[in-house]
Amino acid sequence: MSEAFDFHGAFAQNLPAPAAKWGGFPKYNFVGGHNDPDGIPIDGLIEAAERVLRRRGQTLATYNMDSGPQGDRELRQFLADKMKKYRGFAPSIDEVLVTPGSNPALMLLYDVFLNPGDTVIAEEFSYAGALGRIRKRGAKLVGAKLDDKGLRADHLAELLEAQKKAGVKPKFIYTIPTIQNPTSTVMPVERRREILDVSRAYGVPVIEDECYADLLWDETWPKSMRAMEGSEHVIHVGSFSKYLSPALRLGYVVAPWPVLAQMLALKSDGGTNALAQMVVADFMKAHYDDHVAALKKRLKRKRDTLIEALHEQFGAAAEFDVPPGGIYLWIKLPEAVDTQKLAAPALAEGVAFNPGPEWAVDGATATRHLRLCYAYPSEQVIREGVAKLAEVCHREFGVPLRSANVARGA
Ligand SMILES: Cc1ncc(COP(=O)(O)O)c(C=O)c1O
Repeated sequence: MSEAFDFHGAFAQNLPAPAAKWGGFPKYNFVGGHNDPDGIPIDGLIEAAERVLRRRGQTLATYNMDSGPQGDRELRQFLADKMKKYRGFAPSIDEVLVTPGSNPALMLLYDVFLNPGDTVIAEEFSYAGALGRIRKRGAKLVGAKLDDKGLRADHLAELLEAQKKAGVKPKFIYTIPTIQNPTSTVMPVERRREILDVSRAYGVPVIEDECYADLLWDETWPKSMRAMEGSEHVIHVGSFSKYLSPALRLGYVVAPWPVLAQMLALKSDGGTNALAQMVVADFMKAHYDDHVAALKKRLKRKRDTLIEALHEQFGAAAEFDVPPGGIYLWIKLPEAVDTQKLAAPALAEGVAFNPGPEWAVDGATATRHLRLCYAYPSEQVIREGVAKLAEVCHREFGVPLRSANVARGA
């Protein structure tokens, strides 16, 4: 029997900690940004795949099909049309770059903008995938306060002034204006205007991440910052992960050419998956409206189920704002609870959630917070999972005292 070869001596230096092997999904899966399995439009995708392969299949013979490195022309045209109809601005398809998800688009932007030691302003609670990767590049994160309207323009102005006084010009401001992750706030138009004005006054680019914007229940959504006058310094990022499928890996960025040209120079993946782009373009052109309407209905029902279950199991111990869309609930528990310490015993009982500190620029400000994604689990699983979570939380931290009208531990 030959011995296993030891590769470690040949590895590069400064690698991250090795990944753990995937052990399958937990029974009560509230983590990450998964979608609703019953919301995947399977028949529509089958029809689109057949149609588009017959019509355009031969273009799979070349890298980037017949469309060049920015991505499938038909998909970029769909995106340009959708942004015109629903986000308030009409980019040309030459301003759009399709990427394998919006996270890769963000990572290209970090590569374009960041050197170690640079400063980035992000919302105090924000997308963990962005915060972690910005930190990894050796950049310093400064957290701007949020309120029920999203990023606070007055606090942003204070931070920018303080940075200026210290001789620092932040490289960019990262914001999620429409259904903020994790707080689910929607920034009103007036606030967007203020953020635009203050960022422009200090000459700092804005990355607006609108990957949840399609999932607002209310049809009267505020247009994106990129749609507003004086937004030449705004880079707009979006994704198909949240309103179609995260597994398909399709996202996009809309940016002025000097930024796109740098991103393209760094994008070395041989092109974003062509079949995924073609099928999604063909499907979405015909079905965006009915698909998104049906998905939103499903998600809203799940949100209501989660809220009902929390009321029943946690009572007043779980504080949260009711999300106006999207897939997350951001919950504050009593001070006694440390959600990072709650995660392991909860997982041992099959309940997975995201502890607050991972979603915070300053982890210490979110030790009693947690984020639940309600899109993936069924309504039955949501109910059982919340009951299980309450049970574990009571056992570990004595919270909630009562639930389902039963004094716990009695
Ligand atoms: C705010 C935000 N941006 C970007 C992403 C990345 O998504 P994807 O790479 O699947 O498009 C996520 C995923 O959860 C997110 O919440």
